[in-house]
Amino acid sequence: MTYDRPDLTIISSDVQPGSLRWRSPSNIALVKYWGKYGDQLPRNASVSFTLDGAATDTTLHYNVRKDHGQGVDVQLSLDGKLNEGFSTRTAKFFERLLPIYPFLKQLSFRIETNNSFPHSAGIASSASGMSALALCLVSLEEKLFEPFKDRAAFFHKASYLARLGSGSACRSVYGGAAVWGKVDGVPTSSEEYAVAVTEKLHPVFQTYHDDILLISKSEKSVSSRAGHGLMEGNPYAPARYAQANQRTNEMVEVLKRGDVERFGEILESEALTLHALMMSSQPPYVLIRPNTLAVIERLQEFRSSTGIPLYFTLDAGPNLHLLYPNVDAASVKRFIREQLLYFCEDQMYLADRVGKGPEQLEVSVSD
Ligand code: PMV
Repeated sequence: MTYDRPDLTIISSDVQPGSLRWRSPSNIALVKYWGKYGDQLPRNASVSFTLDGAATDTTLHYNVRKDHGQGVDVQLSLDGKLNEGFSTRTAKFFERLLPIYPFLKQLSFRIETNNSFPHSAGIASSASGMSALALCLVSLEEKLFEPFKDRAAFFHKASYLARLGSGSACRSVYGGAAVWGKVDGVPTSSEEYAVAVTEKLHPVFQTYHDDILLISKSEKSVSSRAGHGLMEGNPYAPARYAQANQRTNEMVEVLKRGDVERFGEILESEALTLHALMMSSQPPYVLIRPNTLAVIERLQEFRSSTGIPLYFTLDAGPNLHLLYPNVDAASVKRFIREQLLYFCEDQMYLADRVGKGPEQLEVSVSD
């Protein structure tokens, strides 16, 4: 399918300056996307929980451009300060969207963005940031042109745009759980955008916790972009893609069934498989740290001695996500405080949980 729309240009005298604002959360992959092709398409299907607390709040201010410059006119400030790096990255993203949104060249943009989590916490902000921006753009399309035929079409397009900005961001536009990539059990699933599988979520998973242990706040030595690229030469890649497709399918069933044990088995194997793929890339690299392993060992001991279904997963970095049901929250939080914080940088962790998805907000007066 294509979203290219050469007709989406504006008559400048019709457009008043305005602002749009969305808050969009981060997500944690349960089955990981690792490896891509073409225009940011995934080599395998993936499924994630959308988080609640870790989110980006973005306001997009737009005005008709007086000059008729060649490129796009975009400035972005992060936490109140103009950020050259993110402004350039966002301008490149807007340039890339010109076949879909030719009007982006006719407007000037000032973007204000704030993360709910500290910028230096070692938590990726691209999923929340890109999804918040994509939602602002789709809202802008509705404001300048016509409404989408329904909300599903609105969110599919937001997810499509978010994907072009940062692959995994496409799963953040829905609450609960989302699938990206073709999966047999989800007929509407697509490689081009994610779809929600929230209505298939068993109650136990609707209130699941995800506590993020900050083992290291340093920037990772190999970016996700480079990591995806290295999958092209990885000898295990074909077997991995087949495994991930099968597991995404199974995970959707597990989420429906409320099977917390099978959920945990897949979750931990996915985390370790992701890092095994990094270690078997050419050149090989290691992103986990000694403290990551120390926590994993203690967590598995805790699980076998208490029977509490506490399981971990990892992103492309050393920090651990600890997932568990709401009924076990008090015991797990005590365990984290008493035995795990010692292994975290500055004894920090972020308490999060499965969230309801993005929210459109009123633009505040000070904006
Ligand atoms: O969206 P990217 O290009 O930052 O890649 C994200 C990859 C993982 O976080 C490791 C897995 C995933 O599916 O989110």
